[in-house]
Amino acid sequence: MAASSVQVFNAAGKFRVVSTKPMPGEQWIRALVNAGCRVEVCTAQKTILSVEDILSLIGSKCDGVIGQLTEDWGETLFSALKKAGGTAFSNMAVGYNNVDVDAASKHGIAVGNTPGVLTETTAELAAALTLSAARRVVEADDFMRAGKYDGWLPTLFVGNLLKGQTVGIIGAGRIGSAYARMMIEGFKMNVIYYDLYQAKYLENFVTAYGNFLKSQGDTPVTWKRAASAEEVLKEADVVSLHPVLDKTTYHLINKERLALMKKEAVLVNASRGPVIDEVALVEHLKANPMFRVGLDVFEDEPYMKPGLGELPNAVVVPHIASASKWTREGMATLAALNVAGKLQGHPIWHNSNLVLPFLDENVPPPKACPSIVNAKALGLQVAPPPSKL
Ligand SMILES: NC(=O)c1ccc[n+]([C@@H]2O[C@H](COP(=O)([O-])OP(=O)(O)OC[C@H]3O[C@@H](n4cnc5c(N)ncnc54)[C@H](O)[C@@H]3O)[C@@H](O)[C@H]2O)c1
Repeated sequence: MAASSVQVFNAAGKFRVVSTKPMPGEQWIRALVNAGCRVEVCTAQKTILSVEDILSLIGSKCDGVIGQLTEDWGETLFSALKKAGGTAFSNMAVGYNNVDVDAASKHGIAVGNTPGVLTETTAELAAALTLSAARRVVEADDFMRAGKYDGWLPTLFVGNLLKGQTVGIIGAGRIGSAYARMMIEGFKMNVIYYDLYQAKYLENFVTAYGNFLKSQGDTPVTWKRAASAEEVLKEADVVSLHPVLDKTTYHLINKERLALMKKEAVLVNASRGPVIDEVALVEHLKANPMFRVGLDVFEDEPYMKPGLGELPNAVVVPHIASASKWTREGMATLAALNVAGKLQGHPIWHNSNLVLPFLDENVPPPKACPSIVNAKALGLQVAPPPSKL
């Protein structure tokens, strides 16, 4: 990378930390500067940096890096970082399927991620995609802008009513459960979910909310834990995908499983693109014009599989699920504090989902790394909860 593509803060800092991208807000820069870091931000006008680009940013002396989910953090980069004296890396994302954590651990490098600030923002975008697809908002917007609207018609852009229908969740973790609660509370949908673990909080929420509705003389909402993803696909009117991406969820939605879904179902994906076999999805959308999909993520980002972009029954947005100002600034701050904390020898925060104390600008952040995914592998010490200090 050309030296001119790098913006430097606190040039005399003792630790050299590189951020492969400018990130929102300034709190993250202050966090690193307060920890004695010289911060170098790559400002190159290239959306996705290659391994070679990042190697040149790391150079011969680098203590830590903040990277992005579009980058390939594997053996090559971690061995280069180790060679440059580095001990800390953080993805600015909760997902880290772009990171070879074993390779990082082998080189003694901590890998941070940023949970706890994306949940509601990502769930809200999944809800927005659900409504857009169910009510054909994008098709109708295109129609309007094209000057085609010449009067109200009983048949114009008829879509699906959500109230009383069943929402299916595959992967009912933080985001899946938050999305489910939005659809249940907002639209009085029943829920069926499939996860490897029981979503107890979600179940309790639906039971309690159902009892409340009943007490008001309304139809109660219900929940069901499915024994398989197939059961969810068969029964739900809306299916939203929120699992991690790993080998158990790669192409979880394929030709055979799409065929199990209702002909007028809505499918939403704000997890990771490869959870869906996108070629099979394009064929399914073509064959079933009233089947609709809302996608935030794609199998070969930034590309879409041929044909997808032309289909009116697909709503597509460019991986913006976490793109609220609060969340993106929070992600940047957590990523910076993961790196700063590791460089300063801080222990690991006791609960990576409870990260609000790290985001309060009015008080110094806790002396801990908010979330290090390979803390155990590296034998890093976990801080006791503040009440026990
Ligand atoms: N589009 C975006 O911008 C965006 C933003 C945030 C997160 N994400 C993605 O969303 C994913 C989920 O985030 P989260 O914070 O809810 O994570 P989480 O770990 O809280 O939840 C993931 C859930 O998936 C479940 N799961 C794992 N394998 C499964 C399988 N084979 N079948 C069914 N369920 C399975 C897990 O048990 C867990 O409950 C992240 O890993 C990330 O890839 C995307």
